Amino acid sequence: MRSDPLDYLSSELQAMRDQGLYRRLRVLDGEQQARASIDHRSVVNLSSNNYLGLTTHPALRARAIEATRRFGVGSGSVRTIAGTMEIHMDLERRLAAFKRTEAAVVFQSGFTANAGTVSSILGKDDVIVSDELNHASIIDGARLSRATIKVFPHRDVAAARTIVEALPRGQRTLLITDGVFSMDGDLGALPALSDLAEEFGCIMMVDDAHASGVFGQQGRGTVDHFGLHGRVDVQVGTLSKAIGVLGGYVAGSRALIEFLCHRARPFLFSTSHPPAVAAACLAALDVLETEPELMRRLWENTRLFKAGLAALGFDTGASDSPITPVIVGDAALAMQLSDRLFERGVFAQGIGFPTVPNGRARVRTIVTAAHTHEDLTFALDAFKTVGTELGIL
Ligand SMILES: Cc1ncc(COP(=O)(O)O)c(C=O)c1O
Repeated sequence: MRSDPLDYLSSELQAMRDQGLYRRLRVLDGEQQARASIDHRSVVNLSSNNYLGLTTHPALRARAIEATRRFGVGSGSVRTIAGTMEIHMDLERRLAAFKRTEAAVVFQSGFTANAGTVSSILGKDDVIVSDELNHASIIDGARLSRATIKVFPHRDVAAARTIVEALPRGQRTLLITDGVFSMDGDLGALPALSDLAEEFGCIMMVDDAHASGVFGQQGRGTVDHFGLHGRVDVQVGTLSKAIGVLGGYVAGSRALIEFLCHRARPFLFSTSHPPAVAAACLAALDVLETEPELMRRLWENTRLFKAGLAALGFDTGASDSPITPVIVGDAALAMQLSDRLFERGVFAQGIGFPTVPNGRARVRTIVTAAHTHEDLTFALDAFKTVGTELGIL
């Protein structure tokens, strides 16, 4: 009988189980909501990126349905062949205006936007200087580019400067940071990195996946938040988090966007969004303009929940955003904390290596505009009880 050449995968899965890192997927029974039914249990959901509650917003739902009726369910092709619809172009024009740039291009996801951009605008003779906690899609894009990758310690601009200073004059270099770091919730050192980029003629790029819809005027992101319009060459955003739908985009100069349309491999080789996705994203951009109270509520909830966790005595790191980690160190303990919280009606995902460094395992919480004060008080009570039971508090 043929032996299974994939047998080693079972051993690796067993090793994950032994280290408490094996995770079964939790399944939503209904909508992505602040209070949701997950694995048939009603829970306060602190694990989604649905910052503004737009996944179920009536305007987005209606526009998606209308677009499906008018244009069908699929685009039928990649963008560069027959898969560019008028609605894709509308969305890109709208995103460019939103980000105050000359142009924008939409990708299938934030992941493909980052990976496709970094890998196409840089090549083997170039250098990428990257924060150590940048998102996996940036790391993969950097590897695909075959450029030399130099990593600086998290938010350490002095270390980034040392790297850049040591490069030959005229070396083509990309400086890149997340706008908001997804596991810690702190902000990238964008203003100081932008100064550095200007001084040395580097390309400056930011991944604003967790900042668009959350920071800046009407959610324009960290470039707007820090007053850096015109100084960041490449802005990536996602349509899958605060925007509530799916996709990623790059905003910048017309030359950058035209180049990506010719060279970014996900744009060339993977089918474009169904029209319903583009329509719902357009509706979300309307909502950002017409319902500023959603961002206000998001930040009010963020302040309330952070203060509550800190008052209980948890280590919540250095977050400046609605992402608040509850850091416990040991991965098995983080998973136990997450499981016990779930039993008490709170869903906050446990996160361990390799998503965060060894010894920095945590439960990650994200509040949204859609949580009520009762939801958050209920969640804080559960954290208090379980944190005490597990000896974390
Ligand atoms: C910082 C960061 N960048 C990019 C992405 C990818 O975005 P998307 O989920 O749209 O692929 C994520 C999401 O996981 C993220 O956290």
